[in-house]
Order: sequence, then C-alpha cells, then structure tokens
Amino acid sequence: MHRILILGGTLEARRLAERLRGRADVATTLSLAGRTAHPAVQPVPVRIGGFGGAEGLAAYLRAERIAALIDATHPYAATISANAARAAAAAGVRLLALRRPPWRPTAYDRWTEVTDVPAAVQALGAAPRHVFLALGRKELGPFATAPQHHYLVRSVDPVDPPLPVAHAIYLLARGPFAEAAERELLLAHGSDAIVAKNSGGEATYGKIAAARALGIETIMLRRPQLPAVPSVASVDEAAAWLDHALASVAARGV
Ligand SMILES: NC(=O)c1ccc[n+]([C@@H]2O[C@H](COP(=O)([O-])OP(=O)(O)OC[C@H]3O[C@@H](n4cnc5c(N)ncnc54)[C@H](OP(=O)(O)O)[C@@H]3O)[C@@H](O)[C@H]2O)c1
Repeated sequence: MHRILILGGTLEARRLAERLRGRADVATTLSLAGRTAHPAVQPVPVRIGGFGGAEGLAAYLRAERIAALIDATHPYAATISANAARAAAAAGVRLLALRRPPWRPTAYDRWTEVTDVPAAVQALGAAPRHVFLALGRKELGPFATAPQHHYLVRSVDPVDPPLPVAHAIYLLARGPFAEAAERELLLAHGSDAIVAKNSGGEATYGKIAAARALGIETIMLRRPQLPAVPSVASVDEAAAWLDHALASVAARGV
C-alpha cells in the first residue's frame, strides 16, 4: 500500500482524490489549509491545517511514510508550493505539481495585468467606478484606500470585518459560476471593472467571459512565481504520473 499526500483546496485536488479513491494499492490523504469554515466534502480522508513550514511538511512526509506528494494547490498559493518543493527534496519524496494553465486574453478581452492587489487598486484610477472584486476575502484590505468606488464582493465565507468604505455589497457563494449568471450579475450591479486572479480552469472562467461580452475591463493579478518542479495540467496526467512514480518506488523496494 503506497501512501499519497495531496495538497488541496482546489477542484482538481478533489477530482484527483476521487480518481484514487477505491484503489487497493494507494491510501490517499488530502490536506487542506483550513481557510474556509465549511470546506467541501472530500472523497478521501482529510487533514486540516498548516504543517509548520517546509521543515514541518518534510517531517510529516517522513513520519507518514509518504511515497508521493502531489501539490494540487491553487496557483496563487505560492508559499505552500515553495514549501512542498523544499520538503519533498529534503525527505526524498517524489513531487508532482498539478497546475491549471493560465487563461490567455483573446483579442476581445480588455485586460490590465498587475502584479499585486495594491497595483490593482491603482489601476482602478481616481474616478469612482463600480467594481466586482473576485478575490479572496483576506486580500481585500488595500481597497480600503480607494473608498470612492462601489464594490461588489463575492467570497465563500463572510468578509469580517467588512471593508471600511461607504459602498460595498457582499455576496456569499462558492463556484462554479456560469457565464450567463455572471453577465446578469455584472449588469445588475452596473459593474464597469472586475478584479480577478488568473486562476485558469473552467469553474471561474464565467466572469472573464462575461466581462469580455460586456466590454468590461478586467484587472488581472499576474500569477506568482512558483517553484520549477515536474508539473502537469490535468487530473488524467497526474494519475498517469502517479502510476509511473509508484512503479519505480515499488521497484526500489521503498
Ligand atoms: N490563494 C488563492 O487564491 C486560493 C484560491 C483558492 C483556493 N486556495 C487554497 O487555499 C489554501 C490556502 O491558500 P493560500 O494562498 O493561503 O496558501 P499559501 O499562502 O501558499 O500558504 C500559507 C500557509 O498555509 C498553509 N497551507 C496552505 N495550503 C495548505 C494545504 N493544502 N494544506 C495544509 N496547509 C496549507 C501552509 O502553512 P504551514 O507553513 O504551516 O504548513 C502555508 O505555509 C490552499 O490549499 C489553496 O489551494 C487558495
């Protein structure tokens, strides 16, 4: 029986876990950071909370005799991905990153790419606008410096405390979000800009397509630097990689 650790918090991590569930040769654990109050139900045993940096993760890999580590975290979760690379190297564990390819703008998109949230605030400019913020609730702080805008904020858990601005509406929702519903949302709130991450995948692409259809500017946070480790873009490829990795682990008698 090979023990597999998936670093999750994404749809892809859940899908990979589903794929591995029921396999007689692997015991899969899915790791979540514990950010959301009511995490989605997962198909395999879950552990919740940080490991205590790269050293803590390396100690966990050794103690649990993990044969392969799959980093299926969100492309903006750069710290845990860096830790995974260091920990896997330190513990001599095979590592694969499962990363969604980024979205690319088409000729009809109006993207303004920025490096971080303060730069997104700058890009909105001084004149009041109606802005849809599709960011994590912990990333909203810098928008307090631009209280002239009307904000529509969507998050999985409540934004607490709320932004100290006069005009903010909060929606609680968990994706996926279809393009037609996103278009209606943007129209209903008179949005003239959205601020988003280049998450990739289909579940949250609806807002990007809707902004394009409505001619609305998308202020897109660039992806952070991620470690250069073997990586694949799909659950199928990750499952195939795992078969190879486990065959070679078995051949070494580990
Ligand atoms: N960032 C996003 O935009 C985003 C969007 C959707 C989902 N998520 C998911 O939310 C989680 C946290 O994201 P983040 O951006 O806050 O991460 P991060 O900044 O890269 O990580 C911060 C710390 O959180 C802990 N951590 C992160 N992911 C973990 C996991 N899967 N299992 C156990 N501990 C984890 C680690 O603590 P220790 O150092 O103590 O181990 C890590 O050092 C990730 O699972 C990610 O996949 C993130």
